[in-house]
Amino acid sequence: MCGIFAAVNKTNVTNNLLGGLSSLSYRGYDSAGIAVVKQGNIERVRASGKLHELENRLHSYPLDGNIGIAHTRWATHGIPNEKNAHPHMTSRVAVAHNGIVENYESLRRRLETAGYIFESETDSETISQLITYYLDLGLNHEQSLCKALLEIEGSYGVAVIFQEQPKTLYAARRGSPLILGKGDSGFYVSSDINAFSEDVSSITYLKDGDVAKINRDGFSVINLQGEKTPRLLQKLEKDGCESGKQGYDHFMLKEIHEQPDVFERTWRHYFNNQRQAFQLPEFSVPDNEVNSITIVACGTSYFAGMVAKYWLEEYAKVPVNIDIASEFRYRKAPLDQNSLAIFISQSGETADTLAAMAHAKAAGLRCISFVNILTSTMAMESDTVLPTLAGPEIGVASTKAFISQLTSLLIFTMSFRQQAHNKHKAQQAKESMEQIPTLLREYLSDTSSIQNVAKLLHKAENMLYLGRGIAYPLAEEGALKIKEISYIHAEAFPAGELKHGPLALVDEKMPVLVIAPPDDLFAKTLSNLREVASRGAKIILVSTRKGLDLARDYVHAEIEMPEIAKQFIPIMYTLPLQLLAYYVALGKGHDVDQPRNLAKSVTVE
Ligand code: M6R
Repeated sequence: MCGIFAAVNKTNVTNNLLGGLSSLSYRGYDSAGIAVVKQGNIERVRASGKLHELENRLHSYPLDGNIGIAHTRWATHGIPNEKNAHPHMTSRVAVAHNGIVENYESLRRRLETAGYIFESETDSETISQLITYYLDLGLNHEQSLCKALLEIEGSYGVAVIFQEQPKTLYAARRGSPLILGKGDSGFYVSSDINAFSEDVSSITYLKDGDVAKINRDGFSVINLQGEKTPRLLQKLEKDGCESGKQGYDHFMLKEIHEQPDVFERTWRHYFNNQRQAFQLPEFSVPDNEVNSITIVACGTSYFAGMVAKYWLEEYAKVPVNIDIASEFRYRKAPLDQNSLAIFISQSGETADTLAAMAHAKAAGLRCISFVNILTSTMAMESDTVLPTLAGPEIGVASTKAFISQLTSLLIFTMSFRQQAHNKHKAQQAKESMEQIPTLLREYLSDTSSIQNVAKLLHKAENMLYLGRGIAYPLAEEGALKIKEISYIHAEAFPAGELKHGPLALVDEKMPVLVIAPPDDLFAKTLSNLREVASRGAKIILVSTRKGLDLARDYVHAEIEMPEIAKQFIPIMYTLPLQLLAYYVALGKGHDVDQPRNLAKSVTVE
């Protein structure tokens, strides 16, 4: 949550900082701010709202400095207004912070008693005040920073500038990512590698406990005890994925349309052409010794895990438990040492999932992660990493990351317990995988029918999503998408569960979207659909032509799906759910890529 960008350069850094913030906006976008050191003073401009508000403010109050820090915020402590926006500063120091200061109340009380006056309601301001407190005691800049950071409980990534040190930028982390980048004319610090401009050619990842001292010509790293901890720059490998919107109106739409390529890139990554078989990294526990699998994740990644539960139980015959990360970490569930723990995360920085992984590790479980950002904390901390290869996902609503998670989880399922070693089966799987991108592309080439269905939903305040079997997690994912960008209250239920209570919600004002692929549960879903229809609900049915014809008498709107092999149904049927959410949100005039109250990477509990 929150994005930090900082720069020390030969020229005015304001545009570098704004460029960095623009790439980091997905991490939080309720306020933003910049501080620079100029002629022995720290100058700061902040604004509540999205980045353009800060840009407008900077037109009236331009900043000029060769060293600066910047921040884009997702509010945790204190409402999103200018006063609570970062950087937080005193006359001597300015700090941009990502993370949570858990002991901020006691620190604040102590500092206020000592006469320090706070201007915001944030936990982060305790950092600038505490550093100032140590400066006032006579410690030097480095010592004051280290001493303050040692007192902080919780997590932080910070960028810091001092009024009396106009050429030095400090960056430190514990639990929140920070990367140092070297460009032609200076150094940069960022929460995300993708925020570096073309100018940056080499980077180093700061590690927990690092404090980097950076000037225009070089940098050094110490730990909080002041001991040198050398960090080497490595060449920045660009991932080759296209950045920008590539002509699409929104990142989300672009990312939806990238999904055929993402599917292809992901499965090919796991296919060994020489052996003509799928090949996964070796697990330290042979999979025939695994009694069960525990899957843990949040949000969309959790729903990918739910789909995988159905796959693994059906095809690999292994029992699967699945948990929401924020519940798993605190439940006192007995954990089986012979269970394999799987963590799924696009960002690899989700605080709840990371804590859940630490919990599983402490219980002695082997931890596999399916992660999109391979430089993330989760990728570093897992015993085995299975990349999901979606490329950078900028839209806050996850789309292509879900498809890449499903693809790698499907390959994991097929490979589990040696299934992939069967060459014939692997060949068959490869041949069917080769067909899928074309089907996905064809589907995406004409979205007019979904756009028409979306028009029916602009005034809806509530919706139900229903599915049975593997269509149930898709209903959950569809409901999440419509909630987060269209702000329609949507609930997903297993179709068979409706009559146990939620049916009471159904009347003629309630649109009900039913996902009913032509599988062995279709007839059962059809009877649930009739139950809902007879209560007056307006039904939107997602099925094949045959399924739609069978339900014709009860359906208000149709979303026709192509015939597709059973194991790929979750991948194909996700597309209309994403598109529907997108077009409803668009029709309602919402900011599709940056929905209210949310952020892309949820690094707080
Ligand atoms: O980065 P992660 O996959 O760990 O993130 C998990 C959720 O925060 C994320 O999927 C969230 O639910 C998305 N906004 C959904 O579109």
